[in-house]
Amino acid sequence: MDAKCSISGKLLDWYDAHARDLPWRAKTGERADPYRVWLSEVMLQQTTVTTVRPRFQAWVARWPDIASLAAADEAEVMAAWAGLGYYARARNLVRTARVVADAHDGRLPDTEAALRSLPGLGDYTAAAVAAIAFGRRAVVIDANVERVVARLFAIGDPLPGARKAIRAAADDVFPESRAGDFAQGLMDLGSGICTPRSPKCLLCPLREDCAGLASGEPDRFPAKAAKAARPQRFGTVFWLEWDEEVLLVRRPDKGLLGGMRALPTGPWIDAPPALADAPAAVDWRILPETISHGFTHFTLDLALAVGRADAQTAHVVGEYWAADRLKSAGLPTVFAKAADAIRRMR
Ligand code: ADE
Repeated sequence: MDAKCSISGKLLDWYDAHARDLPWRAKTGERADPYRVWLSEVMLQQTTVTTVRPRFQAWVARWPDIASLAAADEAEVMAAWAGLGYYARARNLVRTARVVADAHDGRLPDTEAALRSLPGLGDYTAAAVAAIAFGRRAVVIDANVERVVARLFAIGDPLPGARKAIRAAADDVFPESRAGDFAQGLMDLGSGICTPRSPKCLLCPLREDCAGLASGEPDRFPAKAAKAARPQRFGTVFWLEWDEEVLLVRRPDKGLLGGMRALPTGPWIDAPPALADAPAAVDWRILPETISHGFTHFTLDLALAVGRADAQTAHVVGEYWAADRLKSAGLPTVFAKAADAIRRMR
């Protein structure tokens, strides 16, 4: 057996014995449902398996197939996505479901290239769905796979520059058949054994093949380039009360959290703001603590301003929402955090 077959054979045997039982995976002897595979891969792009599992279950209970998602109200889908990362992903899920319902007979196409042409399906998702749902030979590389492969072949260049070498090495070991199981085996290995710190090499089915382990310092791979600090931005959240209700607005369609229901804010800028863009000219009280939220490209520090509307000031653009039912508004995490902090401090 050459080294390549030995690696895929050992990993597939290990996967057959140790695969995690996850709700989007096929039961033994059954085919995976492409809708569930696609949905799980999109959810897993920014969120851990532990968080995704219950959210996935709730989602498929509500929209069990592509047809139901295609017919869903987009605002409800966006609200159901709250806390799962970029909302563009949820919008693209609906768009793709509609394209598939209209133009593909309700079935996801079964090749990497055709999947890649659908809204929001990037290289990773197209490869993952082609391999896992349709048994195609595609090279599927997420962060866990990247780490396992970098260690297996002791690829020492720092990320992100090392990605080309990692892809070439992965392409070399991905088998012609069962590429989806092989990919998920690497993911499970990366999640439970070949972990970022203190990998459990004694338990690894690939320990005899691993150049990283042979080097004596497997957790040195993959090396990371020094990270630039995330820039800091500042803003103010406005909590405008009217009786027992609070003002919510819709954010502009374009931009971060586009189209989502939100608490009103002023601009997000480089220095702590004053009360610019307050939704009404009332007496604003600034609470003593701010909240901080990390987006991918910056950290946002939000001052919290509380005001009370009266008959003159209540009529602003937006909707008043019962303050004790805000959980049902589907607010993005940053605003849910702000609302919790405001209700705690006021
Ligand atoms: N992370 C991304 N896709 C996954 C999958 N199919 N199984 C486990 N973890 C994953």
